[in-house]
Amino acid sequence: MRTQVGIVGAGPAGLLLSHLLALRGIESVVAEVRSRGHCEARQRAGVLEDSSVRLLREAGLADRLDRLGLEHGGIYLQFAGQRRHLDFRDLTGGRTVTVYAQTEVVKDLIAKRLAAGGAVDFEVTGTVVDRLDTDRPVLSYTRADGSTAQIVCDVIAGCDGFHGICRPAMPDGVATIREREYPYAWLGILADVPPSTDELIYAYHSRGFALHSMRSPTLSRLYLQVDPDTSIENWPDERIWDELQQRFALPGWDLRQGPVLDKNITPMRSFVSTPMRYGRLFLAGDAAHIVPPTGAKGLNLALADVAVLAPALDGLLRGDSRLADEYSATCLERVWRATHFSWWMTTMLHRSPGADDMETELQLSQLRYVTTSRAAATSLAENYTGY
Ligand code: FAD
Ligand code: DHB
Repeated sequence: MRTQVGIVGAGPAGLLLSHLLALRGIESVVAEVRSRGHCEARQRAGVLEDSSVRLLREAGLADRLDRLGLEHGGIYLQFAGQRRHLDFRDLTGGRTVTVYAQTEVVKDLIAKRLAAGGAVDFEVTGTVVDRLDTDRPVLSYTRADGSTAQIVCDVIAGCDGFHGICRPAMPDGVATIREREYPYAWLGILADVPPSTDELIYAYHSRGFALHSMRSPTLSRLYLQVDPDTSIENWPDERIWDELQQRFALPGWDLRQGPVLDKNITPMRSFVSTPMRYGRLFLAGDAAHIVPPTGAKGLNLALADVAVLAPALDGLLRGDSRLADEYSATCLERVWRATHFSWWMTTMLHRSPGADDMETELQLSQLRYVTTSRAAATSLAENYTGY
């Protein structure tokens, strides 16, 4: 079997790449280890930068996004008993973000690819990428029906997330890894209750960080900083709500509670593997880099990578390798900006185990500064809405 681009992973990066390539008349095959239902239900990120919304709109993928997405012109930062608003529109000359779940982005992309007759193989096993240093790399896997696929490609795109097989398929010594783990994790819930806020609340509290986000006018998404070694069994719903109530408490304001529809725990790390290319293998999204979720950059970075990769591969397949040769460096500039911003937001807002008064006072000083200095607030707003 033959295709132009073999894509490993049907997350946001792999699916959008497949669509952007199709718009350029380039054929691809997407191989995904999970079922379609699993990909469409996995609760993850929820905030799209302006540039991501524009990208999806220009690619003809924004019908539901334009109807259901919630445009937000700012966020609240809560600390020391106060809740302060940062007005992104005012600070950045009109830029906003849009709250629209990653699950919805993935549903839109899968529907579009399948309607266009795109090849997406779900529930594959034994994915292998090979001959990456030749101009005919090979993608192999076993399909759900037991048949085997051996696909000779011009290029392979590794869009298979942090635990995928593509990054490790690079020969030893090719990749340089920069990594930081954080001594905390996020417990996220999806709750069947209208949000108690008009815009997201990022709360710094002596008991740990909390975030109030949303999915729709009737669905709330909330996060709690928890110990990375805790397990979800230790967190019955009552304990989660009790902790959220304490961390968001503000006189005259109530946090509405409702049935918990989904809950999970996400570890937090910063991770960048460079370069994002080896021979005819190009990595995109979480396969190459991970940011801690504070700042909501992971999904946006994945979309931004493939927006650069699609024209680069188009050029390469036509014999012009200039954009492909620049792919890694072009992406990494944005990746490092987002990596720094996510690290900065994370360390400003979370309580390290055993934090002393010095650390606490430095965090509080930084929070006062970003909520009172226009210059500091503008820097946060510029990074949050998209670099
Ligand atoms: P992914 O979405 O991970 O997609 C990779 C795909 O490859 C998956 O579908 C996977 O099943 C598939 N795959 C893996 N191995 C193979 C294989 N061998 N063969 C075939 N397919 C394979 N970001 C935020 O901004 N805010 C959040 O709240 C947030 N929460 C998150 C919670 C979790 C549990 C995780 C893992 C990530 C979260 N993120 C969050 C990050 C954000 O969701 C990711 O940055 C985003 O999903 C990256 O998209 P991607 O397409 O690169 O990778
Ligand atoms: C969401 C996730 C984030 O990481 C964040 O910073 C803001 C919102 C969310 O899932 O809605």
